[in-house]
Amino acid sequence: MTASPPAPPADAAIDAVGLTKRFGDRTALDGVGFAAAAGDVLAVIGPNGAGKTTLLSLLAGIREPDAGEIHLPRGEVGFVPQQAALYRRLTVAENLRLFARLEEVADVEATVERMLEQTGLGDRRDDQAGTLSGGNQQRINIAIGLLSDPAVLLLDEPSTGLDPRQRGRLWEFVLGLAGRGTTVIFSTHNIAEAERYAGRVLVIADGQGLFDGPIAEFHAAAPAAGTEAADFESAFVRFLAERGH
Ligand SMILES: Nc1ncnc2c1ncn2[C@@H]1O[C@H](COP(=O)(O)OP(=O)(O)OP(=O)(O)O)[C@@H](O)[C@H]1O
Ligand SMILES: [Mg+2]
Repeated sequence: MTASPPAPPADAAIDAVGLTKRFGDRTALDGVGFAAAAGDVLAVIGPNGAGKTTLLSLLAGIREPDAGEIHLPRGEVGFVPQQAALYRRLTVAENLRLFARLEEVADVEATVERMLEQTGLGDRRDDQAGTLSGGNQQRINIAIGLLSDPAVLLLDEPSTGLDPRQRGRLWEFVLGLAGRGTTVIFSTHNIAEAERYAGRVLVIADGQGLFDGPIAEFHAAAPAAGTEAADFESAFVRFLAERGH
């Protein structure tokens, strides 16, 4: 095959083509591609071991793909790993300052102030990070991912372990970013959350991209069993089962 991949869509903030990643004999990701525009919110869903974290780590530039390309016409990518990499004994402000230095931002103190405002954690600035709730630690985690003012923000299972109220606040914050033009790509096992907050879903299983499109189209691709319109979760399970996953 000598055909070159199609050109990225004109308005793409990120365009991934044929991403493949192997670990030894195991193909964790097998030719997955998608494109997203500014302000898109894309959920990556699939069973354990599907390749979601692998995909995000390639997009974040943490790992190199064995094949495929990632185009970022408009800027950088920020990555929010599942585990917050905070120093629990440092204060909120000290953590932010540390990561701002690591990121080599021009004005560290101004950046710290911006992040405190962004997270709404100004009043907790002198508290040890380890004393914050999971939701507030996740806000800091996201603020660190936003340090480079990225065009695309990647979040790996951002709401895991948060209670419903904290999840609500997290999504309010993330959707606010998308509303201002940040492309948001998140992985989740919470199918209801994907349906609620993402405009589009990318379904992967065993490293294969199975579906990429609006939620409504996914419903059409995974028709409801029985008379009632089945909920998204059962439609999703059936969709995977019908494809041998
Ligand atoms: N560093 C690694 N070394 C070897 N195999 C790996 C490595 N990272 C991931 N894998 C394998 O790649 C596949 C995809 O893993 P990945 O973590 O991307 O899945 P995931 O969809 O994020 O799963 P989960 O929902 O459990 O987080 C799995 O089979 C996993 O065992
Ligand atoms: Mg994962």
